[in-house]
Amino acid sequence: MKVSIIKFGGSLTKNLKAQGKFLKEIAQLSKTQKIILIHGGGPEINYFLEKFEVQSKFVNGLRQTDKDSIGIVELALSGKVNKSLTGQLIKEGAKAVGISGKDGLSVICKRVKSLGLVGEPIRVNQKLIENLMSFGFLPVISPISIDKDGNTLNVNADSFASAIAAAFKAERLVFLTDVSGVLDKNKKLIKQIRLGDIEALIKDGTITGGMLPKIKSCAECIKKGIKEVWIADGISGIKNLKGTAIVK
Ligand SMILES: Nc1ncnc2c1ncn2[C@@H]1O[C@H](COP(=O)(O)OP(=O)(O)OP(=O)(O)O)[C@@H](O)[C@H]1O
Ligand SMILES: [Mg+2]
Repeated sequence: MKVSIIKFGGSLTKNLKAQGKFLKEIAQLSKTQKIILIHGGGPEINYFLEKFEVQSKFVNGLRQTDKDSIGIVELALSGKVNKSLTGQLIKEGAKAVGISGKDGLSVICKRVKSLGLVGEPIRVNQKLIENLMSFGFLPVISPISIDKDGNTLNVNADSFASAIAAAFKAERLVFLTDVSGVLDKNKKLIKQIRLGDIEALIKDGTITGGMLPKIKSCAECIKKGIKEVWIADGISGIKNLKGTAIVK
């Protein structure tokens, strides 16, 4: 199945102009091609954690999640962000359906114990998502997933997107975020990154924080044979793609 996987960074939900433009483009594109939209929700998660006065911390760009925060993370991602994006897409004329990795047992994870209730995808069941697309629906997916015992787990949206992309043998995978792509130490855009360059960029501290799971997810997908992988500028949108191409 020819499908594009687009991950819309939670970082972009702060930028209503970029978000509006992007959703308009996706709504239009979804009428002629198969798209799976995956989203993050960093700022919304932080907003709700603050409201409920729950702390959280990041380890290598991944959010530690415990029994106090998992419900809040799910509320922010599968509730607020997912339903808001789905609603706006419907307004723009798309047949959007908002689900999470949990629904239909679509993404099964193993727990990353050191991070608490955090999951790493180990299996993707394509059935539900495939069926939605075959009926012309646009799946909008929150990365909250489950393990084999049915525990709710927080999954970084970048690793989630790469698991979906690999399972669907996607034509292309695009990570839209709040920067113009991967930047070098002088904050200049790196237009192309080869698989072999990644380790050095991490080691010398060029790539940090939220860019870590993103670049690792890109590397996974290139290794699994996905031809077109981008970390791109969410402000330029999806039609006029600008950013860093990750290549073999
Ligand atoms: N070399 C780099 N080039 C560009 N950005 C980098 C780099 N190293 C670290 N970053 C950080 O990565 C951030 C993007 O990742 P972040 O996780 O914050 O956003 P996102 O993945 O789009 O949103 P979300 O995680 O909510 O889905 C940038 O805003 C920047 O602060
Ligand atoms: Mg991120």
